[in-house]
Amino acid sequence: MSNIDFKKVHFDTRAIHAGYHRDSDYGALATPIYQTSTFTFTDSDNAMDVFSGKIPGYDYTRACNPTVTVFEEKMAELEGGEAAVAASSGMGAISSALLGLLKSGDHIVCGNTVYGCTDVVMREILPSLDIETTFVDTSDVDAVEAAIRDNTKVIYFETPANPTMTVTDIAAISALKNKHKGIRVIVDNTFNTPLVQRPLDFGADVVVHSVTKYLNGHGDVIGGVVVGTADDINVIRSRAMGKICGTPLTPFCAYMIIRGMKTLGLRVRRHCESAMTLANYLEASPYVEKVYYPGLKSMGKNYEIAKRQMNGMYTGMISFEMKDGINGMSAFDAAKNLMDNLTIPAIAVSLGDPDSLIQHPASMTHVKVPKEVQKEVGISDGMLRFSVGLEEAEDLIADFDQAFAAL
Ligand SMILES: Cc1ncc(COP(=O)(O)O)c(C=O)c1O
Repeated sequence: MSNIDFKKVHFDTRAIHAGYHRDSDYGALATPIYQTSTFTFTDSDNAMDVFSGKIPGYDYTRACNPTVTVFEEKMAELEGGEAAVAASSGMGAISSALLGLLKSGDHIVCGNTVYGCTDVVMREILPSLDIETTFVDTSDVDAVEAAIRDNTKVIYFETPANPTMTVTDIAAISALKNKHKGIRVIVDNTFNTPLVQRPLDFGADVVVHSVTKYLNGHGDVIGGVVVGTADDINVIRSRAMGKICGTPLTPFCAYMIIRGMKTLGLRVRRHCESAMTLANYLEASPYVEKVYYPGLKSMGKNYEIAKRQMNGMYTGMISFEMKDGINGMSAFDAAKNLMDNLTIPAIAVSLGDPDSLIQHPASMTHVKVPKEVQKEVGISDGMLRFSVGLEEAEDLIADFDQAFAAL
């Protein structure tokens, strides 16, 4: 049993130790993988007590599993929530949070730049269940307030948003709850991890993550998590997540994530440091029209808000726009050619891996989004989204130097 007082120790100590009470059978240092679908009981009374909730215990891995519990408790501790529930993917976490907390007739105010599949849930799936969504630029607090109706139950956003890096003021949006009762603020914190930003500290009610990204951090697991109050997590777990609709994280994936999170602080600090270096480099490049990174002063109001709510680090994600007309090329072609010229970053979606990844939203993730909608939310033809990996920043800069020169 760990005797660490988690209120007194720092992030890295909590990331390594929170949630795991050393295996009571054999003293294993690493979290054991409880690779079992069902659990046995000592006798019929014990079975009755566990199923009725009289005593804590496990009955079936779709509902809960001891390896998964370690990860859930770790995340609740790191995000500053009362409880957490893990999911088989980030989308499993997001859809379960929404399905768990909303019912037919409810209304959502959603950021107009959110991850593509989240957009589909809001635009297509929830309306088919009579849950309506209004999309607004959540960096505009007045626009958010104007979109609130009597039946609004959730305000949902990403900050920084994907891929425009627009920053939303979590505290200002959360303050709207004082006037408009019964609303929950849900923040997708995937780009940050709790080391960089803790939305619950600024008044948000629920945090969701694609654990696939920085939290696991090695590009080899798909997972998700929802963190919030014990009551909300209980509702999400029992209504939508694992227990009933069935989107549980597997014990093996939970083990991999717990393993990855032992180095979360080290990795994320390095991702953010290198991203800051690369953002400054790109901003000075004659080939680049504009850089979108919350740590840059040129981001204006976004930078000012980021300084308040991000922990002195500004994520490892950068978006930037190529110039139009380089050697007679359109910005669209320049962006695609630059990706082809780079030797270190892989052309791939996803983010938060040790390997640098680069993608061109206009021809990849957002290729099916109508051009006028792309324009409306700030996705230009020359925009590239760059997940800065753990390679040496100097090597990445040298690679960009040669890739630009070869355009
Ligand atoms: C910000 C954000 N949220 C959610 C998701 C969905 O996560 P997953 O792919 O684990 O379902 C992604 C995936 O790229 C994402 O970038």
